[in-house]
Amino acid sequence: MAKIIAGIAASHVPAIGVAVDRGMTGTPYWQPLFKGYEPAREWLAKLAPDVAIIVYNDHANALSLELIPTFLIGVADSFPIADEGFGRRPVPEVRGCAPLAWHLAESLILDEFDMTIANEMPVDHGLTVPLSITCGQPPAWPFRVIPLCVNVVQYPPPTGARCFKLGQAIRRAVEKFDEDLRVVIYGTGGMSHQLQGERAGFINRQFDTAFLDGMTKDPLALTKITHTEYMREAGSEGIEMVMWHVMRGALDEDVAEVYRHYHVPASNTAAAVLVLENRSAP
Ligand code: DHB
Ligand code: FE
Repeated sequence: MAKIIAGIAASHVPAIGVAVDRGMTGTPYWQPLFKGYEPAREWLAKLAPDVAIIVYNDHANALSLELIPTFLIGVADSFPIADEGFGRRPVPEVRGCAPLAWHLAESLILDEFDMTIANEMPVDHGLTVPLSITCGQPPAWPFRVIPLCVNVVQYPPPTGARCFKLGQAIRRAVEKFDEDLRVVIYGTGGMSHQLQGERAGFINRQFDTAFLDGMTKDPLALTKITHTEYMREAGSEGIEMVMWHVMRGALDEDVAEVYRHYHVPASNTAAAVLVLENRSAP
């Protein structure tokens, strides 16, 4: 049987990817952020999962504003790196896991989650930056990846509560898959940030810290945060944090916080990595 053994939350600021790609992670500006990633990387290398389900949002690269699926799953054998206007990031192609992805698509849809199915899809910084943060710069990514996109770009995005329930359905689906796969799930994006308008550069450490605490201790309370509250408390792009609820819903009620790192600023945002382990994990 396949099993979800751990969850990771990670921000996906594009400038973090640029710092990796240009060898700038040791500069005075970036070093404190990247030093904080090392324990998470060591933990993940030791865990050595077979597959990662990466819950992320596309930023109008694979999905233009002509088509806006609320939830989408990538079922391909591989996913090319998107060109976001500056050429492709020099990172390995992302290997998919078609058998588990198709099983998830079927199980989720029969479980009444109306997933869009992507047979082909380039993946953007929303997915590749969390991989860089947690895996460094290997010649090939160390596990297969199932991309799962959530719309947080065009109003209305799904609620945090709906995202949490999707996570619970993902767990049920994974546990029905026959092959013995050890699966981790990523929730990406956030933390507080606003990229435009009068409040550009807005950061709310107090909100972010309470959100990180709540992820471990009382995730259901966090699912009640409304879109307006995300906008007000975490900035317009802080709404990306609804994706963390998918990850959290797929874990045990009682999880162990293995590690967290929170840093301001990364570009003009707050960036975090949070590692949660299922207490029931083998
Ligand atoms: C930026 C872009 C993002 O998608 C994000 O989540 C945070 C920051 C940026 O362009 O700086
Ligand atoms: Fe983003």
